[in-house]
Amino acid sequence: MEPRLSFVHRFKPGTRPGARPLLLLHGTGGNEDDLVPLGEMIAPGSPMLSPRGKVLENGMPRFFRRLAEGVFDEEDVHRRALELARFVEEAHKNYGVAAPLALGYSNGANIAAAVLLLRPNVLSGAVLLRAMAPFARPPEAKLAGTPVLILSGARDPIIPAANAARLAATLKDAGAVVDHRTLPVGHELSHLDVKIARGWLESLATVQSE
Ligand code: MLT
Repeated sequence: MEPRLSFVHRFKPGTRPGARPLLLLHGTGGNEDDLVPLGEMIAPGSPMLSPRGKVLENGMPRFFRRLAEGVFDEEDVHRRALELARFVEEAHKNYGVAAPLALGYSNGANIAAAVLLLRPNVLSGAVLLRAMAPFARPPEAKLAGTPVLILSGARDPIIPAANAARLAATLKDAGAVVDHRTLPVGHELSHLDVKIARGWLESLATVQSE
């Protein structure tokens, strides 16, 4: 059984020495089990820490409150991002995992972006799948060299292209090394996401071990 930390979560120890830990952040209506198979496809053998969002919207777990689709309660985003950052620190103490790279989908990608901007040292990078800018006026962050992959969908009915581009620009301005690509898909995940994210993570591991 998992220890009682501040989020219901699942922890899967790594099986590959030195593999970068992942923080898995599910989309609306998901849970702590959802992204584990995706994590395994993208980063086989990595330790995985997977919390369940605490906010319920009609019974569906999320990581922060929204007022409407694509309209966020930014005070809640702020508070919940700090809460999630504290959970990552608790997990560090309990499981001994180093700063993880976030792998977030949709609402999970949006809270990951908020954590990057509010607590830059908590994550070692991020793969943001179908992400939006979490703040209308983002805080100033120092993300020097933090690698971030953003994969957007050209036919995504939920996320305007300009919004994802604004997020990429904000992270770049903060010093992150951002790779933003738009795929010929909608809001749903595709095999292309898996292939690109896996290749991107592998190239990161290579660069870091050189
Ligand atoms: C959000 O609320 O974070 C975004 O609109 C994506 C979603 O969860 O549908």
